Amino acid sequence: MQARWYEADIERVIVTEEQIREKTADLAKQVAADYGSVNELLLVCILKGAVMFMADFTRELGRIGPPLELEFMSAASYGQGTTSSGVVRVRADLDRSIAGRHVLVVEDIIDSGLTLSWLLKYLASRGAASVEVVTLLRKPEAMRSAPPLKYVGFDIPTEFVVGYGLDYNERYRELPYVGVLRPEAGAAS
Ligand code: XMP
Ligand code: MG
Repeated sequence: MQARWYEADIERVIVTEEQIREKTADLAKQVAADYGSVNELLLVCILKGAVMFMADFTRELGRIGPPLELEFMSAASYGQGTTSSGVVRVRADLDRSIAGRHVLVVEDIIDSGLTLSWLLKYLASRGAASVEVVTLLRKPEAMRSAPPLKYVGFDIPTEFVVGYGLDYNERYRELPYVGVLRPEAGAAS
């Protein structure tokens, strides 16, 4: 098979397609067990990075979990370069009330956790009955400063990663795995 264009840009794969598939099924089992008694669960995807994980996670959970509804939000944290500041601007808000609903935020990656901390307060202020988080990836910094996370896929090193929804300058989102870019490909680490 011919090499795909992006393979030349990836230094190494951090999480394979197969690992993502297995972990997603795993996380869905945990969530299904924990939410066995609710009538319905609202999944809130944080665009754009979590879009691949959202789609795959929803299908897994849909087979074994409670009825699901999906919402999408876009939030950008202002920061210097690649660091998050914790000051968050909502680019696209929820379009329905979440009052009284059980909410599960679906995230791609938690780094400092500042974006997430802000988001959790925001969702709680909207009157959600409960708010939890499922994230595919977590960086070490999150252990110190992020709010406690119930569902975590993979702990990865402090490196800038792309693929499976994550981008560098809007590219590489379509990669089926998560990997580190070669320095020549342009990513700041
Ligand atoms: P904080 O620090 O607030 O930031 O937890 C989380 C957000 O930062 C982005 N982020 C990354 N995006 N590769 C990316 O493509 C990475 O390695 C990475 N680390 C953090 C991402 O938008 C996430 O929601
Ligand atoms: Mg990005």
